[in-house]
Amino acid sequence: MNGRYRIANIVGARPNLPKIAPLIREMQRHPEIEPILIHTGQHYDETLSKIFFSQMGIPEPHLNLGVGSGTHAEQTAKILSQIEPILLKQRPDLVLVVGDVNSTIAVSLAAAKIGIAVAHVEAGLRSFDRTMPEEINRVLTDALANYLFATEADAVDNLLREGRPREFIHLVGNVMIDSLLHFLPFAEQSRVGDELGLRNGKSWKPFGLLTLHRPANVDSTEKLAEILSVIDVIAEKIPIVFPVHPRTQHQLNQTGIKHHAQLRRIQPLGYLDFLCLLSKATLVLTDSGGIQEETTALGVPCLTLRDNTERPVTVSQGTNVLVGTNPSKIMAATQRILAGEGKNGRMPPLWDGHAAERIVEVILRNGPRV
Ligand code: UD1
Repeated sequence: MNGRYRIANIVGARPNLPKIAPLIREMQRHPEIEPILIHTGQHYDETLSKIFFSQMGIPEPHLNLGVGSGTHAEQTAKILSQIEPILLKQRPDLVLVVGDVNSTIAVSLAAAKIGIAVAHVEAGLRSFDRTMPEEINRVLTDALANYLFATEADAVDNLLREGRPREFIHLVGNVMIDSLLHFLPFAEQSRVGDELGLRNGKSWKPFGLLTLHRPANVDSTEKLAEILSVIDVIAEKIPIVFPVHPRTQHQLNQTGIKHHAQLRRIQPLGYLDFLCLLSKATLVLTDSGGIQEETTALGVPCLTLRDNTERPVTVSQGTNVLVGTNPSKIMAATQRILAGEGKNGRMPPLWDGHAAERIVEVILRNGPRV
């Protein structure tokens, strides 16, 4: 190989940041790699972006496209048209994308069309639910990528079933769990438990943690009100902390839905405070993808407020239970957890804190082009 191996790493939305942090750290350990970091600006609020950079030691991006919010087509089109001239000018040897957000597919498409190889970290996850925008992003990104880095065995099977070449697929583990294991000792120093009155000295009170941001759950007033009315019943028994995503906040502002005083709405949290709460929670209720994995890694019971998951290992091996949004199912599963009969899980294979090392090793072994 002549010169350094130039890798353009792409981030856009909050969940991309804990995935890119260990990869950049690992690339920086290899002088033969020149990592470039590009932020599309899909997320731009301090609490959804900047705080993650500072807490996780992610270097300042070389470029921020500042695309902001919009419809799916608007956001994707803005990223596509803005990234193309940058890739043409910079000519990286590889574009590395993570996850399943609009930035992931938009940059992959631009790169593939101009003949730049694409690496997709978190490839092959499938909910088989095409009403989820992320599912469309996943399928299309995986159809374009030359390196497909999978977190779990089901993802490998999905990619093979879709006809992707076996030699493109690498089961490497989970970079988000690399971050979790790396930052957990720092998260334990967080004061968030004191600030929220959940901690007395060293001992924590029982509490639940709720996150909601899927369009299917929060964009309809009726659906959101239905979910929050069950959470109100749970909040009678145990305080619930609810860091509210801007999409959900917007809907709550419009509708003025009331809720129980023990359901505590707060601003989105930074990575370390959120990880601290996740690790200490009695139960977690969520519709996030990543949180299903983080709770499995932490051994904390998780109830997923969706009918499907693209991360089945969290159900087959981890602490995750799919409860959908049916009130009686949510209540029954909650009561089991509060009675100490929550599901026990184990850490899935290769979720050991070394996924980024494996990814960089594969990339270096294969050279700049697949
Ligand atoms: C996006 C991802 C989703 C991911 C989620 C994590 C897609 C299709 N969706 O969803 O997969 O789970 O991020 O958060 O890529 N907003 C702000 N400040 C911001 C960003 C957004 O207030 O910094 C508000 C805007 O009103 C915006 C809305 O949130 O319209 C939705 O943002 P958007 O990026 O479109 O989707 P998310 O719901 O955040």
